[in-house]
This record gives sequence, C-alpha cells and structure tokens, in this order.
Amino acid sequence: MPTLVIVGMQWGDEGKGKIVDLICPAFDAVVRYQGGHNAGHTVKFGDRHFSLHLIPSGILHPETACVLGNGMVIAPDAFLAERDRLRAAGIDDAGRLFVSNRAAALLPWHAELDRAREAARGDGAIGTTARGIGPAYESKAGRYGLRLVDLLASDLEQRLEALRAVIAPQLAALGAGPPAPAAAEAGRCRAWGEALVEHLADGEQLLGRWLAEGKSLLFEGAQGTLLDLDHGTYPFVTSSSATAGGAAPGAGVAPTAIDGAAGVLKAYVTRVGGGPFTTELTGEVGEYLRRRGNEYGTTTGRPRRCGWMDTVAGRYGQLLNGVDAIALTKLDVLDELDEIEVCTAYRIGGRTVHDFPADLAALEEAEPVYESLPGWRASTAGALSWDDLPAAARDYVAFLQDQLGAPVEIVSTGPRREETIVRPGGALERLTGGRLPAVAAGRD
Ligand code: IMP
Repeated sequence: MPTLVIVGMQWGDEGKGKIVDLICPAFDAVVRYQGGHNAGHTVKFGDRHFSLHLIPSGILHPETACVLGNGMVIAPDAFLAERDRLRAAGIDDAGRLFVSNRAAALLPWHAELDRAREAARGDGAIGTTARGIGPAYESKAGRYGLRLVDLLASDLEQRLEALRAVIAPQLAALGAGPPAPAAAEAGRCRAWGEALVEHLADGEQLLGRWLAEGKSLLFEGAQGTLLDLDHGTYPFVTSSSATAGGAAPGAGVAPTAIDGAAGVLKAYVTRVGGGPFTTELTGEVGEYLRRRGNEYGTTTGRPRRCGWMDTVAGRYGQLLNGVDAIALTKLDVLDELDEIEVCTAYRIGGRTVHDFPADLAALEEAEPVYESLPGWRASTAGALSWDDLPAAARDYVAFLQDQLGAPVEIVSTGPRREETIVRPGGALERLTGGRLPAVAAGRD
C-alpha cells in the first residue's frame, strides 16, 4: 500500500488539516515528523470543532492510528492535555496513539527561553509561537537535551541539571528569572514520563513493522516549506525540516519507503510572524483576504499577513518537495475580486530574478513582478466538479499549474468537507491506493 507525504508549500496555514482529514481514511496511520505544538488546526467534525496542535487529525477517525515521530519536539504536558481533551470529547485512542520514545522533550524552560529571547529581540523578533520550539531543537542538536524515553531514566535529575546549566545563564543574561531547580522539575518530568508510557513506542520499529505488513502511511508535515530551517527565509523560520524530505529522518523510515508527496497551496499567501514577504498586501485587498479568509492564527490568534500568490516561492517549493499533486485551498476567498495578481518574478537591484534568493537583504528588497488575471466574481462554494467552476477560476488554477509544474488535483472552496472538488484519475488516486474519498458530487 502506498505511503504519501503531505506538506505545506508556503509559510504554513495552507489548510493541511482539512486535506489530511479528507484523505486520511485512505490510510492506516498518520505520522507527524517535525515541529511541536507551534502547529495548530481546527477540524470541524460533525457539529463539533476540535483544536489540535500535536496529535494528527487522524485521531478523529476511529480506524486510523496516529504516530508522533522522533523528529518532533513534544511538550509532555501539552500532549497529555490535548489527549485528555479528546478523551473528554469521547475520542477513544486506545491502542492507536503512539509517540516515539526518541522524540525530543520540550520542557517549560525551553518556553521561558523562547519568550525571553523574543522580548529581547524587540523590533527584530522572529515572531515565534513562544512555545519553546527553537530552544528545544537547540538542546537536541547540542546533545544536552532529553528525549521522552529519558524522562524515565534513573539519572533524570542529573540530566535535567545538565540542561539547566545551559539554559539558566542564558535566561540570566536576558534578564529573565531563574528556571525552577532541577530537583523540582524532575518530579514533574517523572510524572509526565509515567503518564506517557502507554503511548511510547520505538517509532522506527513500529513503522517498519507496519510497512512490512503492507499498511499505508500518511506523513503529515507541519508549518510549511518557507519555514524550513535549511531552505526557508532564515532566520525567520521554524527550527525543523518542514519540507517533504524531513519525513524520513523525522519518522524513522527509509527514504525509499515513501512513494510520493502532495503539496497544500493556499490560493493566495499568508504568513504569521516576522520576515520578508514579497507579495504582502497591506491595504484594502490584504484586509479583504484576512477577513474573508478568517486569517487569524489557530495557535496564537495573531492576525496573519496576507498577499498575492507568489510563484517564485511556489516553484522553489516544488523544487524542494517535488510534489506529485497539489491541493489548492481557499479558492472561494478570491470569489469577490475583480482582478487577481500572481507574482511570477522578482525585481532585485534592477534585475529580473526567477529563483528564490537565499540572501535575506535581496529578498527584502525584492519587488514583485505581477501578471494580472481576471477575477470570476461568482461563488465557487457550490461547485461540485471542476467543470462547475467559473471559467476564470479554472484559468487561475491552470495558470498556477503551469507556473509550478504540478497538477492541481484537489480544490477546496470552503471549510466543510463537501466544499471540495477532487479530480480523479491522477497521482493522488494512485498514492491513496485508489481510495481517494468521493467527496462532493464531483465524483458521482
Ligand atoms: P516557532 O516555530 O514557534 O519557533 O516560530 C518560528 C516561525 O514559524 C514564526 O514566524 C511562527 O509564526 C512560524 N510558525 C510556527 N508554526 C507555525 C504554523 O503552524 N503555521 C504558521 N506559522 C508557524
């Protein structure tokens, strides 16, 4: 059975949650491979809403197993609280919610350091989610962090002491209060470790077994390509590999075990936090996109910055992710516009540039070169199939396909499941083992 990575092609918040929720019945398990509770999405399930940050939305489907991979940074308290909220809502996770014992533990000290640093950066703040993600990955890379399995180690207190010895001077230098003593933290950590035991697993062995049994796996990326630590708009990035390539090391599977990738692309662009954003719209149209698209962060509630589609960034995303198909989300948000601009190149220092620059100064200076496409000024929400979309909306989608070099096989025209057009017969059909859900009447 196939395995598929699903990844955000922009700066996150592309609507991966809805797409994962839609296609996950085609898979036996959903596996997250990077990030932590900086991610977030709301899934509308029947008449209920669930806010998820760490646990994949697959948990809402009783037949689906969920795995939090070793490449994640996991705050045990946040995980347990989220699991308990799901249990209180009647979601039974027995035997199907697994957490890699090699995942890095994100502890309250990491969040304290994240907040203190952001406060000290002032105007240059990255605009992190203040959850401690960067410091937790630093501890991991510095080899003084704790993994979840270590919360149960007999020398837990000494390990915490070693971690505290790195974090305390940094907090002091930033003028923040001292972190709690290691002995006090050890008590909490041990309790978290014990509460986690029922979920902890050797992720590599578990997934290896499932693959050998022919189970189908969906690897769910969090954040988005342009927030990737290596390839994104550094330093305005998150601290993990948010591109499709991160799935193998972050889940503990061989790269050859992954059959394909799908990219989620919003019909325009949004970004939360600081950093360059070439097609940002600060005027009326930007405000329209924010209002109509309800562009406010699920994790922090911050208003998202909004702008036109940027195919320079999009082509770069395709170069990195090599997606077999694109799910285009929120097309309906553009319904009322007379004209839609698409950035196809940048002007930097008098030159026309087609490749996404590494140099932040160049990116900050970049002026978008736009192509104007006519709007459709009609509701796409009721469209049941590709042919039902207004001609100008089809042209917009076709233009994006041409620019990015990948077919758009899902078009989302609203938050509800039914508001989705699935184009059968493409890569996604193959990569879901022919089990692409027949949403919307488009498949009738
Ligand atoms: P961090 O991941 O909290 O360190 O934040 C680093 C950058 O990534 C900031 O610009 C955040 O706003 C952004 N970020 C982190 N998680 C998400 C997400 O799930 N969606 C969108 N942006 C995110």
